[in-house]
Amino acid sequence: MAEEMKTKLAAAGLEANRKADEPCTIVIFGASGDLTARKLIPALYHLYVDGQMPESFRVVGFARRDKTDESWCNEMRESLEKYSRTKNVDEKKWNSFAANLSYHQGDLTEAEAYTRLGDRLQRYESEELKRNLVFYLAISPSLFGEVVDQLHATQLLHRWEEGDEYWQRVVVEKPFGHDLQSAKLLNNHLLRHARERQIFRIDHYLGKETVQNIMMFRFSNAIFEQLWNREAIEHVQITVGETVGVGSRGGYFEESGTIRDMVQNHLLQILSLVAMEPPPSLAAEDVRGEKVKALKSIRAMTKENVAKQVVRGQYFAGTVNGESRKGYRQEEKVDPESNVDTYVALKLFIDNWRWSGVPFYLRTGKNLPLRASEVRVQFRPTPNVLFAAKGDLDLMPNAITLRLQPDEGISLRFNGKVPGNSITSRPVRMHFGYDSEFGAYTPEAYERLLLEAMAGDSTLFIRRDEVETAWQIVDDIRAAWGDEPLTNREFYAAGSWGPMAAEDLLANDQYVWHDPQPAK
Ligand code: BG6
Repeated sequence: MAEEMKTKLAAAGLEANRKADEPCTIVIFGASGDLTARKLIPALYHLYVDGQMPESFRVVGFARRDKTDESWCNEMRESLEKYSRTKNVDEKKWNSFAANLSYHQGDLTEAEAYTRLGDRLQRYESEELKRNLVFYLAISPSLFGEVVDQLHATQLLHRWEEGDEYWQRVVVEKPFGHDLQSAKLLNNHLLRHARERQIFRIDHYLGKETVQNIMMFRFSNAIFEQLWNREAIEHVQITVGETVGVGSRGGYFEESGTIRDMVQNHLLQILSLVAMEPPPSLAAEDVRGEKVKALKSIRAMTKENVAKQVVRGQYFAGTVNGESRKGYRQEEKVDPESNVDTYVALKLFIDNWRWSGVPFYLRTGKNLPLRASEVRVQFRPTPNVLFAAKGDLDLMPNAITLRLQPDEGISLRFNGKVPGNSITSRPVRMHFGYDSEFGAYTPEAYERLLLEAMAGDSTLFIRRDEVETAWQIVDDIRAAWGDEPLTNREFYAAGSWGPMAAEDLLANDQYVWHDPQPAK
């Protein structure tokens, strides 16, 4: 971590160097997969370099392919070169980190592989390394239940009891189910062998620094929190723009669509942080309790509401940043007549005291012109009695924009008088940028999430009722869509900000989408 950043955080009394203290072993299921190479090993390496790993730890990569410790480590070293967030990999540090890595070849569905895993753990030098275990399931969701059953049967995973000296935790990657029913079944399955406090459901957006800052921004700044309600706020826009198409994930996308891939998790998570009430404490259950309350207050998605408030879209061929892109229906493993959504825009109401009547507009899509995520809070206009006589005045409502990625920062827009003898106004901006304020300290989301899983803090993970409430919303929307084919106003050219129907959604309320802008 940049020294300057450490000093600044220390001066502010903040825990920059949170550390996982207890020795433990992380077993990664799916060790030859993409996530392990791109995210997990680089994240663990950076935690190690920053001194945040426990004094003593092991990482076991579990997968079916035949590999030796050495060949797996070499692969991980190569991928670190590609995916590390720092330019240079410190060879000495990598070597001492890699001394803790080993590869376990085995079939996830065979008991024998787990027995051998147990034998391997038994050879470690301390009880903690043998019995404090993080099981990271970076595998197909269809195998989650099987793996947990096997871990239970071989007594590697114990249901936690008060007073237990050692702990085991299960980290589950998304997607967590594909609808409410499957999510419930999966929850029931996992909870047969582990308690809720042992299950860590990942939404990597919660690992992002700027997403965590939403709570800090809201609940530590009186000037903003006082205004954070229906009295002052007219509407909120949340945009998560992506420039990528579905690429090689056509098969997966045909099943999920954007509504399940992005809205069920990332967008609803951002929304719940923006809308939640202040929790009584920062304890995991308090924070998650408030987030669930916000989600539960979302007005039900009846068929009529979906018709008026939800827009789906699908991209056709176009260009993104000068690069030509195929249409979704021409992508690999995609039905040429597919009606799957690669874009979704929604207008939601949160029916509680704070937000009654305030629309929240959310949108996300693939093949948009810019990779940028923003929360834009637009305030009510002032009664324009004073400057109204000056008909040409361009008074804009105040707005706060939380830029979540990239060019992370927060800006506040207000009207200023243009210097000169006439009364002319122009919107001006006050801006805070993470980079200029804190230096280039941008830990990857997975670093934080792995650290929290080792430390046993579930705040940044999704609780059972949270995931189920989010599925209920998405299920209602999908049920209302049924088999209806897409209409012309629901298609958009790759490289545009989405379909006409999404423009209409706001235009009907006399608003327009505020498109995120590229960094200056
Ligand atoms: C994943 C989705 O969860 O999030 C992807 O499956 C999406 O489709 C990705 O591209 C976006 O994450 P980020 O961190 O790049 O904004």
